[in-house]
Order: sequence, then C-alpha cells, then structure tokens
Amino acid sequence: MLSANKISELEKLRTPFYLYDMQLLEDTVSEVARLSEEYGIEVHYAVKANAEGRILDCIAGHGLGADCVSGNEVLCALEHGFPADRIAFAGVGKTDEEIRIAVGNGIFSINCESLPEIEVVDAIAGSLGKRANVSVRINPNIDAHTHKYITTGLEENKFGVSEHEFGPLMELLGRCKNINFNGLHFHVGSQILEPEEVFSLECRRTDEIVALFESGGFHVENIDLGGGLGIDYMDPDAHPIPDFRTWFRTISDNLRSFRGRRVHVEPGRSIVAQCGSLVTRVLYVKHGVSRDFMITDAGMNDLIRPALYGAYHKIENLSAAARGEKDTAAYDVVGPVCESSDVWGEGRTLPAGRRGDLLSIRSAGAYGQAMANRYNLRDLAQAYYIG
Ligand code: LLP
Repeated sequence: MLSANKISELEKLRTPFYLYDMQLLEDTVSEVARLSEEYGIEVHYAVKANAEGRILDCIAGHGLGADCVSGNEVLCALEHGFPADRIAFAGVGKTDEEIRIAVGNGIFSINCESLPEIEVVDAIAGSLGKRANVSVRINPNIDAHTHKYITTGLEENKFGVSEHEFGPLMELLGRCKNINFNGLHFHVGSQILEPEEVFSLECRRTDEIVALFESGGFHVENIDLGGGLGIDYMDPDAHPIPDFRTWFRTISDNLRSFRGRRVHVEPGRSIVAQCGSLVTRVLYVKHGVSRDFMITDAGMNDLIRPALYGAYHKIENLSAAARGEKDTAAYDVVGPVCESSDVWGEGRTLPAGRRGDLLSIRSAGAYGQAMANRYNLRDLAQAYYIG
C-alpha cells in the first residue's frame, strides 16, 4: 500500500498514468530466474505483454530470453540486451521483412506456424546465404478453459500446424536446404487458472507429438511449452507473485520427453501484470436514476481489457484511503470514451469518492500500456516507476 505522502505526490501528476512497482518486478523476475535454474527450464519473456524499456532492461538483466511476435519486437529485444540466441519469434503472419530481420540476426528460433511460411523462411534464408533456426508451432488441440479470445490451442484457432498436416510437414522439412529444424513450439492459452490440470495435459500431448516427430526421423532438441500462467486479478495483494513453482513442477513431473532436451516457457502476464497499475483521477461523481457513477479520466483506450474481454480489475480509491474515508457506496466506475463498454466496473463498493480522487486500477502491467491506443484522439498515458 502506498503511503499518504506518496499518494499526495502522485496527486500532483498529470493523469492518467501507468505506475510500475519496480521492486515487485525485480522480486518476480528473481523468483522466475531462480526457478528456471532449479528446474532447468529456459524462460523467454513474452514481450507483447509489456515492452516498456525499463521493464525489458530489468528482465534482460536477469538473463531471461525473449519471446517476440513481430520484427519490431525482435529489434526491441535486441536493443534492450536480450541475446539473439535467446530470442524466439512466433506469429501466424510474419512478413518477408520481419523474416529477414529474424534470419539476419541469427535468432534462436523462428517458430513457423504453417507450411507455406516454412517455404518462405527457407527461400529468404537461402537468398541471405544463411541457415535459419526453425521450430514448428503445433496446434495441440487442447482446451485451456480460458476466455475464448485468449485460448489458442484449439483446432479451430488459427495458430500452429495441426496433426493432419504432419506428413506433408515432415516431407517439407526434409526438403528445405536452408533451415535447421530445432524443435517444437506449443501454447495453449492465457490466464490459465488450473495450471496443474491444463499444463499436465499439454505435457502429455507434447510427449505424443515429440514421439511422432522422432519416429519420423526428426530430433526434437527444443520443446517450447508457451506461456499462459494466470494471475489473481481479484486480490492482487494476496498473490503479488504468481505460483511459478506449481507451473514448473507440473512440467518437470509430467513431461516425459524432458530428459535429453531443452525445455522452454514463455510467460508474459505472470511476470509483469501485478507490478503495474493504471492511475486515474475522478472527474465527476454523478447520481443516476438507479445508480451512482464515478467518471474517470482514463478510458478503454488506456486499458482495453475490461471493454474487450469483460476482464475484472480491482479498483482502489487511493485518495479516500489517504484521508481515512469511512463511508462506502456502490458505484459504476466508468471512463470518458464514447462507447458504452468503457466501464471499469459495475456496482463496485468503494469508499465515498469525490472529484479529484486518484483511483488505482490494479494488475494492469500486462496487456495494459502495450494495448493502449489513441481512440477519440486521446493522449497516451505516460509511465512512472517506483523503486
Ligand atoms: N506465447 C505465445 C505464443 C502467446 O501467444 C502468448 C500470448 C504468450 C506466450 C504469453 O502468454 P501469457 O503468459 O501472457 O499468458 N491481450 C490478452 C492476452 C493475449 C495473449 C496472447 N498470447 C489479455 O489481455 O488478456
């Protein structure tokens, strides 16, 4: 919890802004780095979750790799000190220019998601006189029991190569002269709240697919199990650091093909979500017919998750806490954007609020600032860092 002094300092800043707790990030990344050593699982941070420079510097500084999904993310990861041999690049629609960036920089792995993409990577590598390291992203057809917009491992999703194409895939890999097949890549979904159930299923399916490739004569040197560990949006202070140990232990206990291979994961949300908040000012408290509205100066353009996924983010009134406000009331907390989905939360019981109060919208470090946009020509929120 922030001190009353800190809150009064924050009250002087232009709102809305993202506020990052760098000590919590540091503690989280240290824990991940420690467990990575202990379990022998290599970790690549999913840059898409948050690509702010100071955050990348902290993560790269602990020796983690990067998981990128665009040419610009690859370049950004390199700029912030992630070594090329720890950078993976996935995505269903890589352009020729992006493939040239990846091949030209000799990154650890281009995770190809279709047969035509493998042919293009082979041709581009040939034209550059290089060999490209290629893993194949597999669609494992597993239900991660998560939101339909963030589940990725089902047959009907656009990601990866499905089992019915394994024959032609192996034939193609055997034929490509300029690629070095170095493994298989999986990712079943995001915000997974049943890690033991979902990741053990992923491991079993991975074992089956590794066996299929090896019986086809392809050594699977690297297994990348993707990201997806969920976080506690309801009560972030109860679980500021997600349960990485359960995830890593589940992999270690269930992945039979672990031995003799390199195993990788790609967490995004679980590393950065809890260290970030979106801080916004109450512009107006308005008494509606059946409810009271608290109208903030941050909108869905600053943090799109509630509008896009119906996502829950805990809301705190920092100023009311600092003045020791005792009364509470139920509010619909809403943003200023001209869309009825621009709502932070309905019927939230909060301390009695007034114009000028600072609210903190918690667990916004992942897919918050990274997905911000300028809808309604609104300014982008700045970032501040504590610690
Ligand atoms: N690897 C791949 C191939 C991915 O597609 C993703 C996320 C990750 C790793 C990282 O997953 P994480 O550990 O963060 O769950 N904007 C959405 C989340 C989209 C996730 C997309 N893929 C949200 O705000 O919930």
